Amino acid sequence: MRTQVGIIGAGPAGLFLALLLTREGIDCIVLEARSRDYVEGRVRAGVLEQGTVDLMHELGVADRLMRESMIDRFLDIRFEGQLIHMDLPGLAGGREVHIYGQQEVVKDLIAARLAVGPLLFEAEAVALDGVDTAKPVIHFRHKGVQHALECDVIAGCDGFHGIARPAIPADALTIHDHIFPFGWLGILSESPPLADMTYANHDRGFALASRRSPRISRLYVQCTADEDPERWPDARIWEELHIRLDADHAELAEGRIFQKGVTPVRSFVAEPMRRGRLFLAGDAAHIVPPTGAKGLNLAAADVRVLARALTAFLRRGDDSLLERYSDTCLRRVWKTIRYSTYMTTLLHRFPDHSAFERRIQLAELDYIASSRAAQTVVAENYVGLPMEAA
Ligand code: APR
Ligand code: PHB
Repeated sequence: MRTQVGIIGAGPAGLFLALLLTREGIDCIVLEARSRDYVEGRVRAGVLEQGTVDLMHELGVADRLMRESMIDRFLDIRFEGQLIHMDLPGLAGGREVHIYGQQEVVKDLIAARLAVGPLLFEAEAVALDGVDTAKPVIHFRHKGVQHALECDVIAGCDGFHGIARPAIPADALTIHDHIFPFGWLGILSESPPLADMTYANHDRGFALASRRSPRISRLYVQCTADEDPERWPDARIWEELHIRLDADHAELAEGRIFQKGVTPVRSFVAEPMRRGRLFLAGDAAHIVPPTGAKGLNLAAADVRVLARALTAFLRRGDDSLLERYSDTCLRRVWKTIRYSTYMTTLLHRFPDHSAFERRIQLAELDYIASSRAAQTVVAENYVGLPMEAA
């Protein structure tokens, strides 16, 4: 088998890349280890920056997004009985974010991809060969049979646990790994959500009230890093949410919890995002802490840069953009890690915080409450930095 770009992974990174390349007339094959049902059912965050929404429009995959997503006009932070109520478009030059579950994005992208080109499910890449040559090869297993896919370029879009990053010699990568001393317990519930996206800093720990639809809430509470969700019966989750969000039963309605899971809070960056003819994008190269919901948006930004660079290379033999791919992406990656780390540090209860550190944290919140400049910093990063600033 042969293709111009072999794409490993059908998460947001691999799927956006495939659609961008196909639009440019570049041939690609997407290999996905898991089944379609599994990939479409994976619950992740649900905040789309303006740039990600624009990308879906450009690719002609925004119809359902326009019908079903909700615009997130305000961003609220609650702490010590106070409320910071930020008007996102008002603070961030008219830009806004949409609430639309990541798995809905993935469903729309998969349908669009299958209509125009190959995407193999249950096709697991097991080894890469010749990434330092002009003809790299992906060895993969599909329906029990081994295949080899010869490519001009390989795109490693296979997430944090994939094989692309480990295929790069360890001494050629610099790894930055920062694990926060807590996790998030997330639920989906059949209950009407709070009116606005609400983050809470509370002595008992962080909480977040988001939504998926007018009838489905997405809620999180800070838990321990290695938390066993079994230790969180439904009643305990609701009790903590009410206390931490400072919301009574009229405001935060309880409903049937139909999904429960723990998300780690971690920053990870592998630099550079390239080795020879192998390019990493999305979670394969970096993880951002979930505070701010930047993971999918960062993956989309990476592959926009990669698609442009691959088009110049494969159409005209111009490798100047490919040479800059890693540096271009990493500028945005680090700014996004900076913001997600800032929001994480601002909003969580750190087990080892001294009384001094806790007072500084509360003073920072008090400052944001009183300063339009500080709110602008929060809001312009939340809606997403413009592509030009990347
Ligand atoms: N062969 C084929 N596919 C693989 C392999 C492999 N060896 N290893 C992993 N994959 C697949 C996974 O099954 C997954 O579907 O690669 C895909 C990677 O998708 P994501 O983990 O969603 O990563 P990415 O596309 O970079 O998206 C980044 O989405 O997944 C979230 O938290 C993530 O929000 C972030 C954003
Ligand atoms: C979500 O809706 O899942 C969500 C929202 C905001 C975040 C993280 C996750 O910061």
